[in-house]
This record gives sequence, C-alpha cells and structure tokens, in this order.
Amino acid sequence: MEDLQNIQSRVMQAISDASDLAELDQVRVSALGKKGEVSLLMRTLGSMSPDERKKFGPRLNTLKDELNKAVLLRREALETELLNTRLASETLDVTLPPLSRPMGSIHPVSQVFAEVTAIFADMGFVTATGPDIETDFYNFTALNFPPKHPARDMHDTFFFEPKEDGTRKLLRTHTSPVQIRTLQAAARQAEKSGSELDPIRIIAPGRTYRCDSDQTHTPMFHQVEGLVIDKTTHMGHLKGCLQDFISAFFERDVSSRFRPHHFPFTEPSAEMDIGYERKGDEILIGQGEQWMEILGCGMVHPEVLRLSGVDPDIYQGFAFGVGIDRLAMLKYGIPDLRDFFACDQRWLQHYGFSPINQPNLATGLS
Ligand code: PHE
Repeated sequence: MEDLQNIQSRVMQAISDASDLAELDQVRVSALGKKGEVSLLMRTLGSMSPDERKKFGPRLNTLKDELNKAVLLRREALETELLNTRLASETLDVTLPPLSRPMGSIHPVSQVFAEVTAIFADMGFVTATGPDIETDFYNFTALNFPPKHPARDMHDTFFFEPKEDGTRKLLRTHTSPVQIRTLQAAARQAEKSGSELDPIRIIAPGRTYRCDSDQTHTPMFHQVEGLVIDKTTHMGHLKGCLQDFISAFFERDVSSRFRPHHFPFTEPSAEMDIGYERKGDEILIGQGEQWMEILGCGMVHPEVLRLSGVDPDIYQGFAFGVGIDRLAMLKYGIPDLRDFFACDQRWLQHYGFSPINQPNLATGLS
C-alpha cells in the first residue's frame, strides 16, 4: 500500500513536470507502457492470494486510471500551450504595408505597339502577322521591286546562305510582305467562295531588319504596316486616316503634310511629315515651323494587286508603313535608339510602363 502511494505521487509529479509532449510520453511509457512500473505490478496480481488480490487489485486499477487521466490532462494542457505559442508567433498584422516586390515594366516598344493597335482597332482594323524570315518573293518581287533593282540593295538586306536551287531566304526589311500575304489570302478566299473580295483593313505590327546601326538605326527595329482595300478607298481616306492616327497617338493636334515620294509598291506614293518645333534640347511635336518625316504611304500599286490575284480594275486602296521605335523616341523623349535593346535595368525602370495599365482610347493611351 505504502509503495503504491509513493509511486502515485512520484509519477504524478513527473507528469506535471513534463515540459513537452515527448517528455510526457516518456513518463507515460515508464509507468503505464507494456514494461512500465504499474503494468509490471498488474502482472503480479496473478500470483497473489485471493484476499490480497481483492485488496490490491482495485487500488492498482484506480492508480492506473488516475495516472492515465493525469497524462491525458497534461497532454491537453501541453497541446494548448503549443498552439498558443504558435498563434502568438504566427500572427498576421493585416495593417502592415505590403512587402514591396520588384516588378517588371513594359518596354516602350511594346507600349507603342499596344497604343497603335488600340487606335487602329478603334477604326476597324484587325491585326495580321507574317514571318520574320521571308523569301525574296514576298519581301521584294511581289511588291513590284524589279529584279536587280537597286532598291533591293538600298534596303541593306540580311540574306541567308543561298540554297542549292539558288533561292535564298532573308530577314524581312519591312512589314510590307504582310500586305502580300493578306492580299493573297483574300483573293484565295474570294475564289473559293465565288464571291467578291472581302474588304481589307489590317495593321501588321512586327520586327524588321536592316544592316544599319547608329543613334537612330538598329539592325533590328519595328514597324507597323497598314493596308486598306475595297472598291472606293482613295487618297483622301489615306490622308484622313493617318492624320487621325497621328493626332490620337501624340494625344494632341498635330499638323501634317504629305510630300510626294517613291515606293515601288505604291502609286502615287507619299511621305507624311508632322510639324514640330525645337525648344532647347526638346522636340515639341504638334505645331511649329519645322517638318519631320514620320511614315511612308501611298495607294497600292495596281501591279501589286495583280501579282497577288486581286483585280486592280475593281479593287483599290492604300498602304502605309510606320517605324515604331521612332514613334516611341518622339513621344517619350528617348534620345538614343540603341538603348532600346541594351537591356539596362535602370533604363527600363525609367522609360518602362506599368504592366497594370492597358492602353485604350477611353481612359487614355499612356
Ligand atoms: N515599306 C516601306 C518602308 O519600309 C514603308 C511603306 C509601307 C511605304 C507601305 C508605303 C506603303 O520604307
């Protein structure tokens, strides 16, 4: 009896002294486990006289139950303690300002592509694309460049190695090949369905390549081509469309003039100039005495239509091509084109745009 009393107080003390769940479990095993102190005593019951057993058994059982209960209570207490310390250390203060995370920015070229696309989409143009690696046919021949014509050299073309049959691919020098691909597709479609040519209103943004490098030229640059074909579109539409575009793009009134020019694939051809003035180091686009060339355009040459399977006696329209990088430089005051492609983090942070704002005409382009 005295023994049991001792065991009880000793184990009870050990239970309440256990400072974590592992320690508590050790105490439990040493008393109540298979080879625990109390369990071993239980086994001695069998060898006792019935009288002894009657006296000793219930006491032993009570001891076992009490110890079990104490372990259970202590475990609960320890678990609650553990949870409370976790809750205290893992509190989330929702009033704290968020951690600042470095965020990328939209490159001015991508920004201007998006702005130009938004403006022309509003006028009913859809976006068309073509490959960067082109054939001589799409880049020159179908655009009415005569064979051996010096204009082919003027474009400072990057050619690939010629193939065995003598043909060689090239990096497109302008986005005008997309005109041809679009005209051919429309002509094929009209022939298949036996109906008239669907009116064409496309812009074709993309990369272009010329072997050239200085402050305003890089070997890879960007253009947007435009093409409008139906039965009635004329030079007046061309002028109105491009005038609207330029004012929408620069987000102010911009004066313009159309100067006669030559491209093999348009007739008549023109270059569009916009008015500007110089104030110190700054170039102010809009009004002013000075003129700056901004894009090439013209009525699509009948021969170009014919070569793509479109009847020039029925269909007509205009085309234009505008340099995206130059538009970006002018609108956002970026002095050197080569910086566009230098991947300088500081430059990108300074000239880049928020990825959250999408240019659109309703809330503003930039
Ligand atoms: N492709 C011409 C260039 O790159 C621009 C242009 C396009 C001119 C369409 C007229 C019509 O210089």
